Amino acid sequence: MLTTLTNVLKKAHRQNYAVGAFNINNLEILQAVMDAAEAERAPVVISTSEGALKYAGMEELGTLVHLAAKRSKRPVVFHLDHGKNYDLVVRAIKSGFYTSVMFDGSSLPYKENIKLTKRLVTMAHRRGISVEAELGAIAGIEDFVSVEEKDAHLTDPEQALEFVQRTGCDALAVAIGTSHGAYKFGGDSQLDFKRLTTIKDLVKVPLVLHGASGIPSTIKNQCIKYGCKIEKAKGVSDAHIRRAVKLGINKVNIDSDLRIAFDAGVRKFLHEQPEVFDPRKILGPAKELMTKVVRQKMRMFGSTGKG
Ligand code: G3H
Ligand code: 13P
Ligand code: ZN
Repeated sequence: MLTTLTNVLKKAHRQNYAVGAFNINNLEILQAVMDAAEAERAPVVISTSEGALKYAGMEELGTLVHLAAKRSKRPVVFHLDHGKNYDLVVRAIKSGFYTSVMFDGSSLPYKENIKLTKRLVTMAHRRGISVEAELGAIAGIEDFVSVEEKDAHLTDPEQALEFVQRTGCDALAVAIGTSHGAYKFGGDSQLDFKRLTTIKDLVKVPLVLHGASGIPSTIKNQCIKYGCKIEKAKGVSDAHIRRAVKLGINKVNIDSDLRIAFDAGVRKFLHEQPEVFDPRKILGPAKELMTKVVRQKMRMFGSTGKG
């Protein structure tokens, strides 16, 4: 069943677990994520980025997600991920498809981020839609050479409190050292847990962790074995994700891990069965591998059995 982000995160916040938000841009990824949610009896957030909408269309993806959600007994949130373009967020709110939108004003001056987020919150709440906002730069912790630089980019706890109070947003994406994509760290996984703890003490809305893919070695190695050049790919360790959830993260965003699972599945199949050219057969193992990844995430986030 389709529901809002506020609804699913309320329970996660109370019971100290996180709901997985998975990016989709086609039918097969959606099916893989929904199969996992069914198998784990877990709530799920289906996210579409601006890029996904450009690739597949808002109506097309919206229709697919609505059908899947209607047929499911699990709480399903349909979410716009990283809406940086104000007009696109407005379009998503008015489309009738989304139950949640993210306005990503993190690259704007602070006051402008507050102003636009607040305006979208009013518009979304009038229609019963949740709003996730972002404060701080989601960028690799290793990109910052000094404490001053780190403080300037990662989410400032006091500012986060003021931001949430002034905008009325329903969830806040915080920057604590993760980054998007498959290359997050040169060395070991590293997150600013002290900052997360301080933010959690001050901010009362559910917190969101972006850039949370782990780049599991079995999948990475399968990609490499069959020709994908991602030797230096590195994600957030499972232990660090568990710790972040324990310290109060209630929504965890995953995209890259689905991409590498898709890649690993397709490459292996094409290598082993070069005579097959039916897309339905080629995409089968990729779908199964993505479901396996999503199920493992749901268990790790503690959302299994919560839907
Ligand atoms: O947060 C970003 C997601 O991984 C979406 O990536 O803009 O390439 O669709 P994309
Ligand atoms: P990853 O690139 O780590 O999967 O992060 C995805 C994300 O944050 C989507 O909003
Ligand atoms: Zn993100």
